Amino acid sequence: MTTKKILFALLMLPMMAVAGNVTSPNGNIELKFSLDEKGRPTYEMSYKTRPVVLPSHLGLELARDKHASPNLAEPSLMAGFHIVDEKTSEFDETWRPVWGETATIRNHYNELAVTLRQKTDEPKYMGHGNEPGLALIPHMRTIVIRFRVYDDGIGFRYEFPQQEELNYFVIQEERSEFAMAGDHTAWWLPGDYDTQEQETQQTKLSEIRGRMQEAVNWGNSSVAVFSETGVQTSLQMKSQDGLYINIHEAACADYATMHLELVDAQTKSMTTKLGGGSNAYTPNPKSSGYPLPKPFTFVSHLTPDATGLKGCMQTPCTTPWRTVMVSDDARDMLSSNLILNLNEPCALEDVSWIHPTKYCGVWWEMIVGKSSWNYTDEFPSIKLDNIDWQKVKPNGRHAANNEKVKRYIDFAAKNGLDEVLVEGWNVGWEDWANLWKRDVFDFQTAYPDFDIKMLNDYAHSKGVKLLMHHETSSSTQNYERHMEKAFQLMNHYGYDAVKTGYVGDIIPRGDHHYSQSMNNHYLYVVKEAAKHHIMVNAHEATRPTGLCRTYPNLVGNESARGTEYEAFGGSRPDHTCILPFTRLQGGPMDYTPGIFVTKLKEWSDNTSWARITIAGSLALYLTMYSPLQMAADLPEHYERFDDAFQFIRDVACDWDESIYLEAEPADYITVARKAKGTPNWFIGGKCDENGHQSVIKLDFLDKGRKYDCTIYADAPDAHYETNPQAYTITKKVVKKGDTLKLSEAPGGGFAVSLIAR
Ligand code: NOJ
Ligand code: CA
Repeated sequence: MTTKKILFALLMLPMMAVAGNVTSPNGNIELKFSLDEKGRPTYEMSYKTRPVVLPSHLGLELARDKHASPNLAEPSLMAGFHIVDEKTSEFDETWRPVWGETATIRNHYNELAVTLRQKTDEPKYMGHGNEPGLALIPHMRTIVIRFRVYDDGIGFRYEFPQQEELNYFVIQEERSEFAMAGDHTAWWLPGDYDTQEQETQQTKLSEIRGRMQEAVNWGNSSVAVFSETGVQTSLQMKSQDGLYINIHEAACADYATMHLELVDAQTKSMTTKLGGGSNAYTPNPKSSGYPLPKPFTFVSHLTPDATGLKGCMQTPCTTPWRTVMVSDDARDMLSSNLILNLNEPCALEDVSWIHPTKYCGVWWEMIVGKSSWNYTDEFPSIKLDNIDWQKVKPNGRHAANNEKVKRYIDFAAKNGLDEVLVEGWNVGWEDWANLWKRDVFDFQTAYPDFDIKMLNDYAHSKGVKLLMHHETSSSTQNYERHMEKAFQLMNHYGYDAVKTGYVGDIIPRGDHHYSQSMNNHYLYVVKEAAKHHIMVNAHEATRPTGLCRTYPNLVGNESARGTEYEAFGGSRPDHTCILPFTRLQGGPMDYTPGIFVTKLKEWSDNTSWARITIAGSLALYLTMYSPLQMAADLPEHYERFDDAFQFIRDVACDWDESIYLEAEPADYITVARKAKGTPNWFIGGKCDENGHQSVIKLDFLDKGRKYDCTIYADAPDAHYETNPQAYTITKKVVKKGDTLKLSEAPGGGFAVSLIAR
């Protein structure tokens, strides 16, 4: 149960010009807030007295009411503030996540909440009928900037109390600055309004502009890059003197996803492009006139709506938290709970139906191209209502058929997997993607060779569930129209989890995957699903920001380059040594690991190959934390390597404890985890293309206890390219204090199970 302690709340200093400082509970992080001479909110941050964020401005540019003359006063929340109130407090509570890396999470921070008032002469449309007129009305607007300072980073957000002068407003751009103290190394993805399925780039900040063009995955089905120096969050950096710094956001709800735009030596003006006016608001031509921040400063850049503007707000409301994590130890980046802590507590009363899940699925063979989602090749296009599916000619390649699904159910039952994902079960896949087709699926009608009742009954008789699939093709209105009936159908047949998907540009046209309205859509789906006791795993949706704390039925997201790309040309071996530092900061990823037959041409026409060894594939079940873990390869491939598959059978996906033993971005990650409610431990180590030597001291085991230890390691001659299937399995008995020496091959890793006797 939650223990909540508010330790103190004091300090009210009305009408201050310069505000105070607040330090983290252990004193390592210091946050300073002030107003500059123009009344612009300014903050800076240090770690063990070393600068992390140099003085940086905060503020928002608002769009202008279309009735207002462009010559009239500045309506933005950027400058002209004075401080009317300042409160500091300390907060310390320990809470229990429904699922997670640890059984309990401590949320301990010092807070500074600054209330700011801005006096403006606001143009107001006074006329009516034939007598229009504008008058300048003095306005007082109040905002709060709230900072929370943890031992491993800070979060801040803007809060807008309800007030006469600020009831509804439209955001033109948020201008939160993050001035970096040097030309750090960064692991970054091109800023993009629609996709994050790229390889991570590793460059100095000053090299981002030069690398941008080749960094963009132009082949993705929906690409919208916006700037030569625009990057995504979570952005991991490392300073020359060894500070690890990470910028992301927490609790992004009813707001657009934030990107970061770097000001570098070549930046002349901010490159923000506005997409045109809307009905009620136009971009404010005056508000971009602020001086450019100095080089190495990131400035927030929100995802626009179809009009180019960034958000429609009604007070009272808040922005998401902007987060800056910092440590001189890379392992702290991975064990941090800062993003979860900045989210609201669980909003669901009954969570008994939410469970960690291991699953397999009718999936990989379609991704690889050996079989199809669609049932027929007969028509140039289809209209859902006009086809008698019993009469159409099957193409003979349809994977989601009764026989195959039963085979997967048998495999899951035999190997202790909880669920079987079946994609391509429902009509509409004949012309499903990138065609601007609105009524693409109904999420209810099965193809004739998929007997939904028989297959669910069969699965349940064997203790297995089917996992539903709803590809929306980004036709979001279509999905919202059918969703209630689709969830009822799931309840009727006994599905308790759905994988959703948002392939292609958003329909209706003009919107983006990471806009305010789409972020509202994804959360709407999660909330509606909760009413039906359905867990959600959304692919291509916005990158997570810890909302799974509040809605723990959001058990997974893709929102990055997943295993599917091993069939689309492959991902670099260091990819999975970066994702835990970046994408996983906001929540678990449905990475779909477990490829054993990595050279796809061994069993298909696909010449792509997965850049990983079998032992490395096993490691991902530990290093890529998720309560939802897929065994993605085909049953017959696992049967070929059944002794290695034993680890996937055994490994847990919910934990009481997690200890990051070794970590360096893009090089290696080693983690030990204790399975929930048991004395058993599992250890995983994953490395990049260079290999890695691990020495693991088993000092976390229970004193006086013996453990059956099974080590799945790369064989001495293993290599992700030339010899990926060479592994060794060693068994021994170990105790607390023993040491394991493990050798990881290039692109490899290891997995260890420690079962208490
Ligand atoms: C993309 C998803 O990431 C993949 O897992 C899925 O199979 C396809 N879309 C089809 O929905
Ligand atoms: Ca995808």
